[in-house]
Amino acid sequence: MLDQLETLKTTALTTLASVAGESSLDSWRVAHLGKKSAIQSVFDGMKNLTKEERPVIGKAANEVRRALQVAFDEKAAALKEAALQRALQGERLDVTLPGRPLAVGRLHPVTQTMRRIYAIFAEMGFQVYRSREVETDEYNFQLLNFPPHHPAREMQDSFYVQTDSDRGDNPILLRTHTSPGQIRSMRETSGYAGNGPLPANPPPVRIILPGMCYRFEQITTRANFQFTQVEGLAVGKGITFGDLKGTLSDFARRVFGQQVRTRFRASHFPFTEPSAEMDIECFVCGGAGCAVCKRTGWLEILGSGMVHPVVLQNGGYDPIIYSGFAFGMGPERITMLRHKIEDIRYFWANDFRFLEQF
Ligand code: PHE
Repeated sequence: MLDQLETLKTTALTTLASVAGESSLDSWRVAHLGKKSAIQSVFDGMKNLTKEERPVIGKAANEVRRALQVAFDEKAAALKEAALQRALQGERLDVTLPGRPLAVGRLHPVTQTMRRIYAIFAEMGFQVYRSREVETDEYNFQLLNFPPHHPAREMQDSFYVQTDSDRGDNPILLRTHTSPGQIRSMRETSGYAGNGPLPANPPPVRIILPGMCYRFEQITTRANFQFTQVEGLAVGKGITFGDLKGTLSDFARRVFGQQVRTRFRASHFPFTEPSAEMDIECFVCGGAGCAVCKRTGWLEILGSGMVHPVVLQNGGYDPIIYSGFAFGMGPERITMLRHKIEDIRYFWANDFRFLEQF
């Protein structure tokens, strides 16, 4: 019996040694450790043994079963390890391959230009003042010295939001420029409500007014019905045209380079007197004349002027004591010049091929 157990064990272990896969391992387990295995039949036959044989055979049978179980566990672990090694070899990862870049968002090119403008004026002491996009005719035109029906309004065809007859000459419209913010900021600073005596000693104003403007325009490569502006306003005692020229020339040098030359041309705006447009020397041709500057050698950058006395007064500042300058520029136009963009419509077309270049 003991010899039989020994043979049983040797046979089982020899077969186990040639097992090479998970399924044959399972068949081995069923054959050598299962309910119908030889070792099980030894246990089943225990009741037929004598009292003296039983503990001896029982002990030996237990040892054999334990040995088979241990051998089985070791084999199972070895097969699992081998399978893992095979998978690691077969599905090898090249961790040195560069990853796929994640698409990262970025600022719109016009926003980048606006932030550059804010930064430059911040260094000169100008604060950002935000003003509403939906305006009344009074703020958008009348208080800026455009009387109702005045022909100067024709430069700024408007989107009217509300023209009810009870609003008379004061319809509601989308602002056509950022200039109504001049009146709003001056009134906020001076505390003037638009009637009665002018406030005594209102504090000075030094702000820029950025934002979206709207005009009922034919859309072309150079004009759109919505666009941004950055307005500037400085009001105080003893502010001169020299301050205007110095501030704006310095601004041009900071945006377009220290060597850039500027020139001021007489112009007209109802809310400034005198008025001037500032040009910079064409940085494409250096002033020789090219397609970008339309052969003039100069590029128009902004409108400006000394704040009109009527406008100062409408803002609560006595024009006998106070003076100031104002200017307005188009960030789209500046962005187009800096990057040689040929069509203003790209800014709102939402085309990644355009936007990703900035
Ligand atoms: N508001 C003017 C425009 O839109 C620009 C401007 C602003 C001119 C301030 C002078 C002073 O055309």
